Amino acid sequence: MLTAWDSLSGAVVQAAGADAVLVGDSLGMVALGHTTTLPVTLDQMLHHTQAVARGFSSPASEHPLLISDLPFLSYQCGEDLAVAAAGRLLKESPAAAVKLEGAEPEVVDVINRLVRMGIPVMGHLGLTPQSVHQMGYRRQAVDAVSQERLQAQAAILERSGCFAMVLEHVPAELAGRVRRSLAIPVIGIGAGDDCDGQVRVTADLLGLTPRQPPFSPALVNGRQLFTDALHSWVSGINSPSNSPSP
Ligand code: KIV
Repeated sequence: MLTAWDSLSGAVVQAAGADAVLVGDSLGMVALGHTTTLPVTLDQMLHHTQAVARGFSSPASEHPLLISDLPFLSYQCGEDLAVAAAGRLLKESPAAAVKLEGAEPEVVDVINRLVRMGIPVMGHLGLTPQSVHQMGYRRQAVDAVSQERLQAQAAILERSGCFAMVLEHVPAELAGRVRRSLAIPVIGIGAGDDCDGQVRVTADLLGLTPRQPPFSPALVNGRQLFTDALHSWVSGINSPSNSPSP
């Protein structure tokens, strides 16, 4: 699973062969210049999810699974609001599922309700960036008590009807244990190899994000690559000896 945030990145991740494309609220940092995911609105998620889908080239039946994040406070303020928010993502874009963070009792009630309403839900445990002001961006579940809690929460998410879950920035050994205890797929990021699948923020892999997470190294230095290419074009245009190329 790879993230996308506009039609260009949607086209690229589809062409790369991703099974699933997540329009994550990380677009707040990747595309909107925020330092956290908290300011991202439902309207922005919808706008970017529609754009990503427009980047897909094949017939809709061959598109990767498109999942859209429910942004901060679009699902924590009551079940009715959560159904309305998730419903908008599925009605007004081709997203086929939503992702939300955490497993507090209120969130579990929301998941139960969404699933009963026919809305597929992906869970997200471990480092949950919408709680950055409580947990920071630190690795989660490093002690025995919090590992037990996370394992219990994962079981609750499965029982609530989540069709899959993301496990972010937790010890690899714990991720493996969670995976083996569940029937639904566990998609890891910074959670080691013993997961059913992996997800990455595409801009991190391409070396485009200003702050590279320690658990998601870049494959290329995209910022440098693009800057050098454009700098060489700009220098050529500005050079008196060169006539501008088209
Ligand atoms: O918002 C996002 O991109 C995510 C991934 C890190 C899983 O939630």
